[in-house]
Amino acid sequence: MNKALRKPVIAGNWKMNLTPDETAALIEQMKPLVADAACDVVLCVPFVDIAAAQAAAAGSNIQIGAQNCHWANSGAFTGEISAPMLKAIGVGYVIVGHSERRTYFNDSSETVAARTRAALDAGLTVILCVGETRSEREQGITQEIVRTQTKIALQGVSAEELKRVIVAYEPVWAIGTGLTATAEQANEVNAWIRALLAELYSIDAANGVVIQYGGSMNAANAGELLAQPDIDGGLIGGASLKAQDFSAIIKATYFF
Ligand code: 13P
Repeated sequence: MNKALRKPVIAGNWKMNLTPDETAALIEQMKPLVADAACDVVLCVPFVDIAAAQAAAAGSNIQIGAQNCHWANSGAFTGEISAPMLKAIGVGYVIVGHSERRTYFNDSSETVAARTRAALDAGLTVILCVGETRSEREQGITQEIVRTQTKIALQGVSAEELKRVIVAYEPVWAIGTGLTATAEQANEVNAWIRALLAELYSIDAANGVVIQYGGSMNAANAGELLAQPDIDGGLIGGASLKAQDFSAIIKATYFF
């Protein structure tokens, strides 16, 4: 409900793809295609591509984000990048809790909460990813899993800070598999997340939160997904590496 209260956000998650030169070239291709977007447009690029992405996107409506941050501001954490470091180079958004981080790098609900805390403290907007595995869906525990992940990540997050949180529902079984949740399945979970936010904060606060869907979203299925009342945008993997596909998803937000 009250979808009109929220400006949609289409974010690309490039994952571990593209060099700085390739980044600049792809953003140059995208810029004219997305210039009249009716939504916010964000590209979450690898750390080493951030500077090239910012230079290429300067003066356009494309905003640049990162794909993870550490929970400490600084310290002996070899290979890590902190939220204040991202803020210092002008990054506005950071993905936290992506299922690939949870699966391959042992990110837990608790570390996701700590990263969320650090990102909010640094003044970043967090794209908080939650979602069930295939076996969790088959066991009928999707709602519990998504509620628990969301609730733990948001522990200690104030209503004011919630304005800088985007939640991305990404069913793990739909990521990079070509299997998309049906529009009804995706909307059902997004509505559960919004109901939880209403419980934890207020109906008004919940109605202000952008809740995306992610998982094999593409030019062909974006329209139906984005037309759902509780789907306010997308977190796009593979299709965000192709200018035409990404811009077609962005154009699908015109028809809300
Ligand atoms: P795909 O769009 O490639 O399925 O990836 C989704 C995703 O994980 C975005 O964060």
